[in-house]
Amino acid sequence: MTRAVDPSRGSGLSLRAGWAADSPIAYLMHAALSQPALVSLAAGFVDQQSLPVEATRSAALALLADPDLARAALQYGSTAGDSVLRGQVLAGVLAQDSAASDAGGAVPTLAPTAEQVVLTAGSNQLLHLLAEVLLDPGDIVLCDAPTYFVFMGLIRNMGARAVGIDSDEGGMRLDALEGALQQLSAAGELPRVKAIYVMTYFDNPRSVSLAPARRPALCELAKRYSQSAPIYVIEDAAYRELRYVGDDQASIRAHDHDGSTVVYAGTFSKSFSPGIRVGFGILPRALVGPVLAIKGNLDFGSPHLNQRIVSEALRLGLCEPHAATLREVYARKRDAMLAALARELGGAVRYTRPDGGLYVWAELNDAIDTGPSGPLFERALEQGVLYVPGVYCFPDATHAPSNCMRLSFGVQSEARIALGIERLARAIDSARARGKRASALGGAERCHEVLG
Ligand SMILES: Cc1ncc(COP(=O)(O)O)c(C=O)c1O
Repeated sequence: MTRAVDPSRGSGLSLRAGWAADSPIAYLMHAALSQPALVSLAAGFVDQQSLPVEATRSAALALLADPDLARAALQYGSTAGDSVLRGQVLAGVLAQDSAASDAGGAVPTLAPTAEQVVLTAGSNQLLHLLAEVLLDPGDIVLCDAPTYFVFMGLIRNMGARAVGIDSDEGGMRLDALEGALQQLSAAGELPRVKAIYVMTYFDNPRSVSLAPARRPALCELAKRYSQSAPIYVIEDAAYRELRYVGDDQASIRAHDHDGSTVVYAGTFSKSFSPGIRVGFGILPRALVGPVLAIKGNLDFGSPHLNQRIVSEALRLGLCEPHAATLREVYARKRDAMLAALARELGGAVRYTRPDGGLYVWAELNDAIDTGPSGPLFERALEQGVLYVPGVYCFPDATHAPSNCMRLSFGVQSEARIALGIERLARAIDSARARGKRASALGGAERCHEVLG
């Protein structure tokens, strides 16, 4: 569906600027910053205290101690990124996949080479580049419902469409995916479908992982429906290293036997530091040139110095011990959030119990609208707590359940997580009481207005 020409064209801004202007991220950041005492359970930031100061210092000192290495790092790099780090990240992902508990089930694949690795400024830049390379106005990306709302913003910013696929506790439902592909095919829209976007490990917003048995099957479906043009699988593995329970699983990429379908997106943001802005993609060969051409126009290479520091940190063996520490820190925070939810909101909400990642997805038992203009969001701000309204995470807001929210346990301390949930419980009580008063006073119409 191509968007209509923006009537505010006289502003001098592009259509894309207009499409980007009302992003939920900007709104939530504004809400958080305008009230400093607020406990934000909305921010996707990572834990502050455990950021890798010592590891980064050691890696930077090792790099800067050698003037030749230092000068090379301070020079422009290449568009694809530092060749040593490209080799390191590829070796890292291949090692994760072959060590995964279900690795024996994967058919042998054509191993990718370091030329297929592109380093980006965070994995978000990779997602942006993929959107640029794949999407024209009217194109379609199939995503979980709910999904990562920032990526949906990128899709919309291309004038393209995110179509939601039902998703359960095992991630994207493949019967629903196949049903959607069949419908789109019958409607003659299959050539519009450019990608299936899926977070295989502890997704954002629910911390749900794609079930191991669905991984090869999803890849196979994408290949089967790649009739007139390829349908790529964008596998976002941002939270892979943050597993607190159980064993790692092989990626979808590991099941892509000829390497032509899956883009694997990884990042050092969650397992090391988001400020260092180093992410990467392992791309099918056909996408490497187009991605580099667009990236060449954009920045001819993400910050070289940061890539060299990450490379040194890996060489010195500093990343994996840091990730192990993070797993302990976040497991405690997750426990703090689950304990507070049970204590404060036991009967009022249902919620996920994540085995990894940074989020709990909560669904109110009452039909209270959690959306930005609903009664709870306002009450929550009054009480001093912020959450991400669930409606932001659904590709099609009109079919989204209105009573969900994403709660992050990443950034706040255990004490503030507990405080935030206490405040949320008060806000829910207050929204509920107000709903009851409204229905007693004003009858059905008023009640609808208050409860959404
Ligand atoms: C699912 C997912 N993918 C990608 C990103 C992008 O992270 P970065 O650009 O820091 O690598 C995030 C950030 O929160 C995320 O949640």
